[in-house]
Amino acid sequence: MVDVDTVRRKVRLFVEEDLAAVRAIEREAFPEQRPTPLYEMLGHGGLSRYLVAVACRPPEGGRGLLRLLDRPGRPREEVVGYLGMWLPAQEAHIVAVAVTKPWRGRGFGELLIMCALELAAALGKREAVLECRVSNAIAIALYEKYGFQKVTVRPRYYSDNQEDAYVMVREGLDSLDFQQFLEGMKANYGRRWGLWEGPIAAEVGAHDGIKGGSG
Ligand SMILES: CC(C)(COP(=O)(O)OP(=O)(O)OC[C@H]1O[C@@H](n2cnc3c(N)ncnc32)[C@H](O)[C@@H]1OP(=O)(O)O)[C@@H](O)C(=O)NCCC(=O)NCCS
Repeated sequence: MVDVDTVRRKVRLFVEEDLAAVRAIEREAFPEQRPTPLYEMLGHGGLSRYLVAVACRPPEGGRGLLRLLDRPGRPREEVVGYLGMWLPAQEAHIVAVAVTKPWRGRGFGELLIMCALELAAALGKREAVLECRVSNAIAIALYEKYGFQKVTVRPRYYSDNQEDAYVMVREGLDSLDFQQFLEGMKANYGRRWGLWEGPIAAEVGAHDGIKGGSG
């Protein structure tokens, strides 16, 4: 078992090489859904953005053959979660977020939401919107932590069990209040989980813009 304190957390844009890992997480978390088309994950001409959460482990000594397979000085990366957003007009619609079961409860879902909101704001979006099963208390707690509010209920939204959905909205992504809120959340995240990296610099071309935390 990996010592959670030695793992560096990273969120970056999805690339085609991540497809198998993301498909596995998608099947595990949303078995009732059709697989997301690759073109959508790759950005769909600017209409969507998919992010992946990566656990970066430091090289280990290992034993026997495992030791030979480890390349010294090179962190080993594992895609442990993903998030998808549609980007119509002034809104970012979060269509999927999931972390693979063994890695849940270790801050990766939060990092995906934090980075997605930062990216949406950097892209000029004013609000983030999502639907969530009314029974999904864990996801609702995560969204509320980041300022999403339940605005309405869509009855029998999910066709597998006719469950209702909350529509949740995070307003004010273009406000100074939000920027300050996000800086505070990033600082807290770094204190709790240690080093992390987000995708903003690569996305908007501001190479000194990566906000990392250190614990
Ligand atoms: C929802 C999900 C993405 C959260 O990811 P995660 O990596 O496990 O969550 P994190 O460890 O980053 O926790 C972030 C916040 O989520 C909430 N949360 C996480 N685990 C929780 C639990 N067991 N009980 C209650 N709240 C919980 C808390 O608000 C937590 O913040 P806190 O630690 O300050 O209390 C993950 O549970 C998942 O993949 N679920 C299945 C797919 C799914 O339901 N997606 C959402 C569809 S709307």
